[in-house]
Amino acid sequence: MKTASKTYEILYVSTMAADAPLAIVGAVAAHARIANAACDITGVLIFDGVRFCQQIEGRQKDVLALMERIYQDARHFNIEMFHHGPLPGRRFNHFSMAFSNIEEIGVLERLEQLNGQQGVDVFMALIATLNLQA
Ligand SMILES: Cc1cc2nc3c(=O)[nH]c(=O)nc-3n(C[C@H](O)[C@H](O)[C@H](O)COP(=O)(O)O)c2cc1C
Repeated sequence: MKTASKTYEILYVSTMAADAPLAIVGAVAAHARIANAACDITGVLIFDGVRFCQQIEGRQKDVLALMERIYQDARHFNIEMFHHGPLPGRRFNHFSMAFSNIEEIGVLERLEQLNGQQGVDVFMALIATLNLQA
């Protein structure tokens, strides 16, 4: 199998732009659901009122291309990629982009400081507590 077709994931935390209206959260999630389904990307988006945390997974070339677009999106900044790498199998097979709000501010702030497996572990522990919306 070629590298470009293996499953790959990226996890990052970012901060919503100060001038972005809250309505962008729903707009981003709705756009992501449709656009991701079209290129077989799955994942999850979490929002705590200030920060986003997103996991995207799919073919490596598609994930990297999406991440390029996300980096350039002025609706958020301070994008900290805390993990990227190959995945043996998808984590969110059933969600083109699941979404959840969280009340607790500290968790995403903490993820901003973590790297690699430590970040993935905190992220997956957080996911287990959420009621994800498809
Ligand atoms: C926090 C955040 C997460 C995003 N996630 C996705 C995503 O999962 N899929 C997607 O297609 N666009 C996502 N976007 C939007 C992209 O940054 C970009 O606006 C979009 O891919 C452009 O699509 P277009 O070229 O079809 O207009 C996200 C934007 C933000 C701010």
